[in-house]
Amino acid sequence: MRIEDRMERFLQAFDELLRASRSALAFTGAGVSEESGIPTFRGSGGLWEEYPPAIYGNLPGLAMVFLLRRRRLAGFAAGVVSALAEAEPNPCHRALAALEKEGLLLGVVTQNIDGLHTLAGSGRVLELHGSAYRLRCLRCRATYGVAREILEEVVERLRRPRATRRDLLGALRRYAPPCAACGGRTRPDVVFFGESLPPGVLDEALELASRCDLLLALGTSSLVYPAAMVPRAALDAGARLVEINPHPTVLTPSAELRIPLPAGEFFASYLEHAGRE
Ligand code: OAD
Repeated sequence: MRIEDRMERFLQAFDELLRASRSALAFTGAGVSEESGIPTFRGSGGLWEEYPPAIYGNLPGLAMVFLLRRRRLAGFAAGVVSALAEAEPNPCHRALAALEKEGLLLGVVTQNIDGLHTLAGSGRVLELHGSAYRLRCLRCRATYGVAREILEEVVERLRRPRATRRDLLGALRRYAPPCAACGGRTRPDVVFFGESLPPGVLDEALELASRCDLLLALGTSSLVYPAAMVPRAALDAGARLVEINPHPTVLTPSAELRIPLPAGEFFASYLEHAGRE
């Protein structure tokens, strides 16, 4: 079959399922931001391949690298922060925002911390793993937004040749200064390995999932719990499943429609096809 015919078939099948649905929900993972330049976690070339999560995915591990291998920490942090600071929403983020505005999508439950769904215009975004654009005070729990320009400044500091501990601490303080309300220490409001999810967000996501009739599983391996309870809750409640992912996942056997393409590529065609762009 010609590539265009294959895409046409996917577009038609996707549109039919969406139009037949009364309450569709998107569940997204790192794969939807891959075409925005942010690396995924698993698989070849994934972040965890070079930087094992047992060390780089939690605060004590990061503190140890800070003490013992600061250049490597600077390389890791600069890579992650620059990818976040430079990323722009791609057609997948934009299409989900457009579908929500048209009343065809309840919202997005995401595992991503990159803020791209909100930047693209999605209104209801449940960030299960928090946001790199938000800080939380460890003492009084006040939260603060972080401007993108600050991430750019942080990258500049981290990229200084022969970054010293002082440079690293300077970058950290620029990103996470003391709490303006109580002077306490602040930290990124993201979920590291072994930490709990933000209170209430998982419950809200599970509630939405259990009353959706169509779940769009986009760019996620769905291996990490409790986030992966979201597609399970939708399937248990009888929702139909569309999966868009170049590689099969644990959800593939349950998918009524599987589109084995990069999500941005598929949604670029979808937006064009639907005359939305
Ligand atoms: P993973 O890295 O586990 O999975 C990314 C998925 O995206 C894989 O199934 C890829 O095949 C797929 N993929 C890659 N490029 C894609 C593209 N262009 N379009 C569509 N799919 C693509 O990422 P997540 O499932 O998001 O948690 O991982 C879940 C959690 O594991 C993350 O939120 C993070 C990590 O540990 C924390 O840090 C707490």
